[in-house]
Amino acid sequence: MLKIGILGSGFIADFHMQAYKQLCDVRVVSVASRTRAESFARSWGISGWFGGDEFMDGLCGDRELDAVDICLPNFLHVDAVRACADNHKNVILEKPLGRNVREAKEIADAATRSGVLHGYAENQVYLPQIKRAERLIRGGAMGKVLHVRAREAHFGPHSDWFWEKELSGGGSLLDMGCHSLEVTRKLVGSEPRQAFGAGSTQLHRDKTDAEDESVSLIKYSGGEIGQAENSWSAHGGLDMRYEIFGSEGALFLDVTRETGLKLFTVADESKVGYVVEKSEAAKGWLYPIWREALLYGYVDELKDFTDSFAKGELPSENFNDGLLVNQMIDACYRSFSSGKWEPIER
Ligand SMILES: NC(=O)c1ccc[n+]([C@@H]2O[C@H](COP(=O)([O-])OP(=O)(O)OC[C@H]3O[C@@H](n4cnc5c(N)ncnc54)[C@H](O)[C@@H]3O)[C@@H](O)[C@H]2O)c1
Repeated sequence: MLKIGILGSGFIADFHMQAYKQLCDVRVVSVASRTRAESFARSWGISGWFGGDEFMDGLCGDRELDAVDICLPNFLHVDAVRACADNHKNVILEKPLGRNVREAKEIADAATRSGVLHGYAENQVYLPQIKRAERLIRGGAMGKVLHVRAREAHFGPHSDWFWEKELSGGGSLLDMGCHSLEVTRKLVGSEPRQAFGAGSTQLHRDKTDAEDESVSLIKYSGGEIGQAENSWSAHGGLDMRYEIFGSEGALFLDVTRETGLKLFTVADESKVGYVVEKSEAAKGWLYPIWREALLYGYVDELKDFTDSFAKGELPSENFNDGLLVNQMIDACYRSFSSGKWEPIER
């Protein structure tokens, strides 16, 4: 039985707990956070919890733990990975690895130096539909992949720190483009070379100076093109789509609008309850999501990480991948400013 401690008790920690509950050989034994650690522990039946200013060191110093799962805001990622590395704990870190390449390198170096195993928690590469698409591509059903278009959008994040560029590191590109760009890279399967893009702050100027709209293009070594559209100003709840165009096929994937359920209702919204992440309404035509932890890839992601840790192996999605994502993103941000294609520096 692999024993896990979770740092953070917010939005993503909840999703991870839904997924851990599906895994037989894993037990979450403690949680630590500045706020809500005790109530989170109680609601999920976790025996140990650490709160207050020393929450990070408290949990990472716990000898019982085999691994730590970091579900903390972006500005705490470096400190949290250092605490795990200092205590020789295998580590899972939520996306994005760092707020920029400098932090991502610090994080990857700290893990490598201490010899711990590391998983980069990019759930969308584990979406069941993406895994199926990957098998179709590798089996030749698409011919040569020419262009992958990815879109992830909603009306903006749930916690204040996301909107503060200093704390988050960036807007819709960093927050959501990290998913779109990484899945696109995995589907294309060759080396990202150059980046081009545009970002702007349009709808949420009262809240942030980070971009709330962005479009980014990546040119790959085989001439393939990856395209990421990411928005914090799109109405209609979470929109997660991929379109793959190949020399011998095309593949379309819509995770949140093709749930297999279409509901039309004029009933009071309180009777509908939860529809989908960041849904803005519960009336009219709705596409209610089901088993989100599975459909969004969290179950397979955390199974891969914990199975790999149990075998003493590096997970297939690890900090080296996270570093490359930050390298693609920093190049896109350089292009936002220069208006030119920018090299992806490795
Ligand atoms: N994979 C995904 O799709 C996905 C979705 C959402 C968030 N994330 C990532 O997960 C990480 C956490 O995001 P979240 O949405 O859970 O955030 P959140 O704001 O919902 O929760 C943050 C947690 O960190 C704790 N915390 C500890 N010290 C803090 C401090 N000094 N300031 C603020 N909070 C502090 C809070 O108490 C809270 O439990 C981020 O890196 C984010 O990018 C990933």
